[in-house]
Amino acid sequence: MSQKVAVIGLGYVGLPLACLCAEKGFEVSGLELDEKKILMIRQGKSPIKDSFVEEKLPVLHEKIFVTNNPGEALQSSGVIIIAVPTPMRENKPDLGALKSALVSVEANLEHCQKKPLVIIESTVYPGTTAEVAKPILEKRGLKAGIDFELGHCPERVDPGNKEFGIGNIPRVVCCTTREGSLGAKEFYSKIVNAEITVLDSIIAVEAVKVFENTFRDVNIAYVNDLAKGFDRMGIDIKEVIRGASTKPFGFMPFYPGPGVGGHCIPKDPCYLIASSKKAGFTPKLLELARKINKSMPAYVVELVENSLKQKKLHLKSQKICVLGVAFKPEIDDIRESPAWPIISMLKEKKAALNIFDPFVPGASTAKSIEDAVSGCSCIVLCTQHRQFLEKITPEFLKSMGVRVVIDARNCLDKKGIIEKGILYKGIGS
Ligand SMILES: NC(=O)c1ccc[n+]([C@@H]2O[C@H](COP(=O)([O-])OP(=O)(O)OC[C@H]3O[C@@H](n4cnc5c(N)ncnc54)[C@H](O)[C@@H]3O)[C@@H](O)[C@H]2O)c1
Repeated sequence: MSQKVAVIGLGYVGLPLACLCAEKGFEVSGLELDEKKILMIRQGKSPIKDSFVEEKLPVLHEKIFVTNNPGEALQSSGVIIIAVPTPMRENKPDLGALKSALVSVEANLEHCQKKPLVIIESTVYPGTTAEVAKPILEKRGLKAGIDFELGHCPERVDPGNKEFGIGNIPRVVCCTTREGSLGAKEFYSKIVNAEITVLDSIIAVEAVKVFENTFRDVNIAYVNDLAKGFDRMGIDIKEVIRGASTKPFGFMPFYPGPGVGGHCIPKDPCYLIASSKKAGFTPKLLELARKINKSMPAYVVELVENSLKQKKLHLKSQKICVLGVAFKPEIDDIRESPAWPIISMLKEKKAALNIFDPFVPGASTAKSIEDAVSGCSCIVLCTQHRQFLEKITPEFLKSMGVRVVIDARNCLDKKGIIEKGILYKGIGS
């Protein structure tokens, strides 16, 4: 197996991977379109908030050759990993970036090492490798399985997760031939300190990733829906989950919130729904789960409005503080964050807003929690950043004159806040 690895797309998935490969002694090149990212990476500065990259890039950047020139990046590579975005556009999977990356690979296949291994790590819908990738790569007569190996190995990285990172998350993989799959397993075994499982078909590997993320979406929808119902029934869902979690088998806790965000969970079920419909089957549960999770930002805004009314306040004349725009704690990724629809709906209803996220200064209107909360009658907590947990105490809220707390993550001190005479509303709590 060759020692040169080319990574296409240096974002949340590709950049940690490039660092990991460089750390493990591979010669690494990165193909990236974003000039700003290229410059930062060349200087050893991480363009993303990722503790692994922030630690490794300053040391390893000279070992990673980054360019926007496909020929230079792919020249002599033995392993090519594609980690470009695969979003939704107009309710359909958008494989534009993937196709363009594949075109770059195809144009340079003959300049790679003999029989290079082309691995797609981007999340795709089942069938993409065979229906979309293979024809592009075989355009000029080279054959998958003979002239190059083609496979899929979905990335499972979970930004912000301290226990499982790119170097120790088990992987599943499959390539066009058995030999290719074993070659891929050998490669991943050199960089990942975890089980590498070879499945029998590429389409099964493709289905693994969307299956896993859809599992999360459906379960989150389940607790979100129950949270709304429990609220009417006077049951605190947080307590119910605490109780149910004591069962050592057959139960796994999921938590209600303002909706799901990020580049994966809201989108991957749509990839699965689209490919399933193409095959003639409508997965009703999956569609309903999407609908429920998408309804949560409006539910949060409803809580804000109703809670203010209880305090005889009207949204229109109030200043509201939105805390957190990142879609999950301790990261700066704002893609598909439920905070955005919450902010737009509050603005549409003519509320004045202060916005603060310590990880996303560009989207913040305030420089600190104190600045953000100052003058606000209501706070809406959208992200469970550690800094918020530490600072947003009942005493702090009282001293700032806050009258209503909408805790969309059910993470603040409910009892203490209520004891201070502040109206507290969580999601089903
Ligand atoms: N972010 C996550 O936590 C995560 C986790 C698992 C899987 N995934 C999947 O991995 C894939 C990449 O996601 P991401 O979060 O790293 O995206 P990202 O937007 O952070 O990074 C992708 C990078 O690819 C670059 N790019 C786009 N088209 C290109 C091209 N043709 N040639 C070269 N570079 C190109 C972009 O400029 C960008 O820097 C997606 O399919 C996503 O669903 C993401």
